[in-house]
Amino acid sequence: MSDSIDHVLQEEHLVAPSPEFAQRATLHAEDYQQMYRESLDDPEAFWGRVAGELHWHTPWTQVLDWQEPHAQWFVGGKTNIAHNALDRNVQRGLGDKRAIIWEGEDGEIRTFTYSQLLDDVQRAANVLTSLGVVAGDRVTLYLPMIPEAVIAMLACARIGAIHSVVFGGFSVNALADRIGNAESKLLITADASYRRGAVVPLKDNADAAAQKAGVLEKMLVVRRTGSAVQMQDGRDVWWHEAMQDAGTEHEAAALDSEHPLFVLYTSGSTGKPKGVVHTTGGYMAATYLTMGAVFDLKDDDLFWCTADVGWVTGHSYIVYGPLLNGASVLMYEGAPNQPDWGRYWDMIERHKVSILYTAPTAIRSFMRAGDEFPNRFDLSSLRLLGSVGEPINPEAWRWYWRVIGGERCPVIDTWWQTETGSIMLTTLPGAFPAKPGSAGLPMFGVDAAIMNMQGEELEANEGGYLVIRRPWPSMLRTVYGDDDRYRKTYWGEIPHVYFAGDGARRDADGYFTVVGRVDDVLNVSGHRLGTMEIESALVSHPSVAEAAVVGKPDAVKGESVVAFVLTQSGHTVDPAELRKHVTREIGALARPDAIYIADALPKTRSGKIMRRFLRQVAAGQEISGDTSTLEDPAVLERLAATPVQ
Ligand code: WT7
Repeated sequence: MSDSIDHVLQEEHLVAPSPEFAQRATLHAEDYQQMYRESLDDPEAFWGRVAGELHWHTPWTQVLDWQEPHAQWFVGGKTNIAHNALDRNVQRGLGDKRAIIWEGEDGEIRTFTYSQLLDDVQRAANVLTSLGVVAGDRVTLYLPMIPEAVIAMLACARIGAIHSVVFGGFSVNALADRIGNAESKLLITADASYRRGAVVPLKDNADAAAQKAGVLEKMLVVRRTGSAVQMQDGRDVWWHEAMQDAGTEHEAAALDSEHPLFVLYTSGSTGKPKGVVHTTGGYMAATYLTMGAVFDLKDDDLFWCTADVGWVTGHSYIVYGPLLNGASVLMYEGAPNQPDWGRYWDMIERHKVSILYTAPTAIRSFMRAGDEFPNRFDLSSLRLLGSVGEPINPEAWRWYWRVIGGERCPVIDTWWQTETGSIMLTTLPGAFPAKPGSAGLPMFGVDAAIMNMQGEELEANEGGYLVIRRPWPSMLRTVYGDDDRYRKTYWGEIPHVYFAGDGARRDADGYFTVVGRVDDVLNVSGHRLGTMEIESALVSHPSVAEAAVVGKPDAVKGESVVAFVLTQSGHTVDPAELRKHVTREIGALARPDAIYIADALPKTRSGKIMRRFLRQVAAGQEISGDTSTLEDPAVLERLAATPVQ
């Protein structure tokens, strides 16, 4: 566990919701207590009622079937999440309500009402079918943050194709691995994307990845930038042409509640990312419930989640959660500092955003850029602020609350993961005071606890492992193609509980504070990266013999990537070339900030690299702890004297 983050989180201070927020809030403390109790005492009744607010083609016969570690929710039920996100809302009179307001980095604005979005999704579903995609097929999406990304996801869901969205910042190799692992039939991409004014050649990357992966049959290409691309005859189809030819009539498929909805790759403690599998009915019920409850959603809200759809936050709180609730969402294509650090505040003023959901790393960048940017804009439309992705330090929390929220808007921290599908820990904004730095209380149905490795629950304020003691509807069902890994990683670490991989503690009021990962996973600017993934990228360079990667606390990014590299004998390596190599292998998000070209690594006699000591070297700390197990303790002094490149 990282001591430095722990230290930052020590501060404790309660901030109650403002009276004007609390008065209008839907859920108060008594509601939470009563609902939380029911959700654990009678989960069948609780979740049955939640799911029952949505449309089912066929009702379920059993709410939960739990055969540890496999859960089935709403057994026997048939439904369609895209139907619930669109048709159902049009049917209940929201056809003319704005579903998506999209703004491009270049300032272009496109708006879709629920009826228009439904039209496009129906067309896109027909396009997928005409390309030979059927229920159960995997479709990879490699797209910029444009409305077509949402349309493509919902079109997949409509026909029962399993989408696998790959973040547009991933490299050719990372994309090829994900296409190959999922054995996708179709890739949906764009000619290129805009990022900080630059043009990123997505289609070129897609072509190279397609060749590497070998499994793709078709490619659908959205025109975004107008960049020249090579269209391969018989394989590639322009999105706009196919959409024009497609009909708008389409009946959403009635899918089994446990039909897989999507695969989303995330980093773990091995070199290979895992495909987290989510299914239909349970994910739908939980994203629907949490979106409404956690964000105190009202009919006239404009919700803005600044995540990319390539991450789970985008899946659950740009696409499914908001649309299931008939909400209006703002979607933004570009970077927060285009043309300058005022971009978000300008957008909030112009569009009158009422709820903002963003990440601590962004908040810290805004803090650093200076108050003059937000202060230039009218942010009075805001009423609620959310944070996600990593622990939010109290200093950033307070800045967000004071400068962005004008001390009027509650700030809620939300802890969850790709695997959990929906928000698991938070402080309901109208119900309880927030404790800056603490994620808060368990969401409905979430039986969270702090345990040691033996599965014993710890006392208040004792640091341990965050676990969930029973299944919840939006939990991952398996790791794609590797159920054994699912079993071992999540249900095999501590007996009979879900192991989140995070260190945490719970205080006497029941508030959870999540400290950070306890495995070899880094959190860099809210992006999850496996140290072993970066190490395998490094050693794939012909001049690298061995590599060890650790995180170093960073004031803005949370953590930064530090690499210790041993060169092949007779070779020299240029750190700039190594950074380029990692960018090629994974993507710029994994590029090491600091590189040590070392002559040896601290290893035990049995050859295990002691990363603990490397973390201390990287942070410039005194070496502490027992170094006697090291084969050569002098390595540490030599490393500390090695120049950082
Ligand atoms: C890991 C999950 C679903 C959120 C986006 C990231 C860390 C996430 C918090 C928070 C402290 C947090 C954890 C977790 N994390 N939110 N509010 N406080 N830590 O999803 O990529 O699957 O990463 O992010 O370490 O395990 P992800």
